[in-house]
Amino acid sequence: MPKHLISTNDLSINDINEILDEAISYKNAIPNNTLENKLITTIFFENSTRTLSSFEIAVKRLGGKVVRLDISKSSTLKGETIADTAANINAMNTDAIIIRHQSAGAGNYLAKYVTCPIINGGDGAHAHPTQALLDTLTMKLHFKNLEGKKIAIVGDIVNSRVATSGIDIFSRLGMEVILVAPPHFQSISNKLRQTTNIKEIIDEVDVIMSLRTQTERHNNQIYGSLKDYASRYCITKDLIGNRNIIILHPGPVHRNIDIDDEMLKDSRCKVLSQVSNGVYIRMAILNRLINQ
Ligand code: NCD
Repeated sequence: MPKHLISTNDLSINDINEILDEAISYKNAIPNNTLENKLITTIFFENSTRTLSSFEIAVKRLGGKVVRLDISKSSTLKGETIADTAANINAMNTDAIIIRHQSAGAGNYLAKYVTCPIINGGDGAHAHPTQALLDTLTMKLHFKNLEGKKIAIVGDIVNSRVATSGIDIFSRLGMEVILVAPPHFQSISNKLRQTTNIKEIIDEVDVIMSLRTQTERHNNQIYGSLKDYASRYCITKDLIGNRNIIILHPGPVHRNIDIDDEMLKDSRCKVLSQVSNGVYIRMAILNRLINQ
């Protein structure tokens, strides 16, 4: 295992498979307290519901303790740099720092100022490695073998760290990734198959991963209303019909824009399984980085 987990590129195929196996073992049995006497600090500069609580629950499930730095009351608001913030937390002997930040590269930058492992909980549009791993686990639990399976990633791909990290791991595990988005949301630098029309690929994919429109990362609105967007890209029960396709979404879901209410209730929609699996993945990551 690498010292830090900043991007999926830090992980070899062997690391990925070992993390998935360890996560499955946590799903199947009560874990040991492998983080007993360990203290982990979470520093989230961007909002989060799932990732923050999932990491904190993962620490506690392994018997560790968590300190959450409250950014709204921290000294970054008094002009302290994030490197100094991290160096100070590190000086208090924390065993790992989990960071989320709006700037791409934040985790990588901090890694130079600390001695403990840094885990990236999402940096700008750059990377979200634990999300890609939990998405992979969710698909693996459903299909067993991912080789040759096809996944369409639908939505605001260019601004999505979930897409970037997912594309890397899914491709390395032998899946075919198809990018479905209007031109202004497409990834420009990609060699993958791309289309603007979801109906073109609907009969050949095994998985659809819907993404939220990342309005907070748009400098100006370059598209019509979200309703216009939804009319072409919302994953509806009408669109999916009886097809044998599973639906993923990292959350937060914009209901009836990303996925409609009916499809969210369907057993093929794995959104809450992803959330459950996220805890097992983060337990595996924490154990492997801290106890190696
Ligand atoms: C995503 C994120 O923050 O990158 N959510 C998550 O971590 N589960 C996706 C999003 O915000 O749309």
